[in-house]
Order: sequence, then structure tokens, then C-alpha cells
Amino acid sequence: MRGHCWVGACVLCSLVSMSVIAASGEPTKDIIEGRIARFRDMGAAFKSIRDELKAARPDTSRIKDSARVVRNYSTAIPEWFPAGSEPPAESGWLDWVRGWFSSAGDSAVEPASETHAKAEIWANPRQFLQLQRQFVAEAAELWRVAQGADIAAIKAQQQKVARSCAACHKTFREPMD
Ligand code: HEC
Repeated sequence: MRGHCWVGACVLCSLVSMSVIAASGEPTKDIIEGRIARFRDMGAAFKSIRDELKAARPDTSRIKDSARVVRNYSTAIPEWFPAGSEPPAESGWLDWVRGWFSSAGDSAVEPASETHAKAEIWANPRQFLQLQRQFVAEAAELWRVAQGADIAAIKAQQQKVARSCAACHKTFREPMD
């Protein structure tokens, strides 16, 4: 009898955890958190290039290393936005009512994670990929000029890359607060 109860509890337990996963979309949360972490890592590498360029004697080997990081990330960006990782649709009052009565409680209505990606990425992937390809080209060129010691050339290309980041953010990222 005791064994029976234990098995029963186990089945119930896995059913509950399955429904929680379905309601809160844990895999989606991992995708979103993973892409934000990669963007932040790329952002840190890019910032270190900017910092070096401000120094009296820029460390060109540090610039080269960071330019490689940015270039490597640039090509991977499309993989970070699989279908299903788009921002949750605006939740209306009906969602709140549903969430209130749902067995999973609040997790049913909370967004999977704080994404700033706009739904336009999935609605207009062509334009998104076009901006990403431009970014890949600019980042590759930055890496190329970073092999030399022409600081003025590196600076000029760093600014082009920065404009490429901004172009995508302007269209496809919600303003950061
Ligand atoms: C093709 C589009 C695109 C390009 C190019 C791009 N980004 Fe982004 N970036 C995004 C999107 C979309 C997000 C939002 C991701 C999310 O919140 O899910 C983002 C998020 C970020 C974040 C995370 C912000 C946070 O803390 O939540 C940083 C940092 C960042 N980008 C820096 C950069 C830098 C630096 C570059 C250029 C070197 C760049 N990005 C190029 C689209 C782009």
C-alpha cells in the first residue's frame, strides 16, 4: 500500500512539473537568456575595442582578440532567434483571468523572460537577416584591419560596426530602460 502511494505521488509529481514547464515555457526562457548572455559577451568585447582606441597607446593584440570575438558571434546571430522565442503577445485581461484560475498560478501569465527582441524579427526575417549580414561584413572587416597597427583605420571601421549594431537595434530591439 505504501509503495502504491509512493508511485502515485511520483506520477502526480511529474504531471505537475510537466504542466508547469508547458505553462511557463522553460525551454524558451533558456533560449532568451542564452541569447542575451551572448549579446552581452559580444557587447563587452566590442566595448573593450572602444576603450583601447581611447587609450594613448592602444593595445593592438587586445583589439585583435576582441575583434575576433565580435566577428565569431556575428555569424551565429540567426541561430539565437528560433521560432517560439519571440516576445509574448500583449497579455490582456483574459490572460490574467486564465492565469488566476490555472493550476500553475502566476507562472502562466508571466513572460518567459525579459526579452527586448521585437516581434518584427519573426514577422520580417528577411530584413533582420539583411542587417545581420551587413553586420557580419563590417565585423569581418574590423577583424581584418585589426591585424595591422593602423589605429586610424581601426577607429574608422569600429565606428562602422557601431552603426551596424545600432541599425539593427533601432528596428528590431525594444528601447532598453
Ligand atoms: C541583426 C540584429 C542585431 C545586431 C547586428 C546587433 N544586435 Fe544587439 N541585440 C539585437 C536584439 C534583437 C537584441 C535583444 C535580444 C533579447 O532581448 O532577446 C539585442 C541585444 C543586445 C544586448 C543585450 C542587452 C541586454 O542587456 O539585454 C547587447 C549588449 C547588444 N545587443 C549589443 C550589441 C552590439 C555591441 C552589437 C554590435 C557589435 C550588436 N548588439 C549587434 C539585435 C542585434
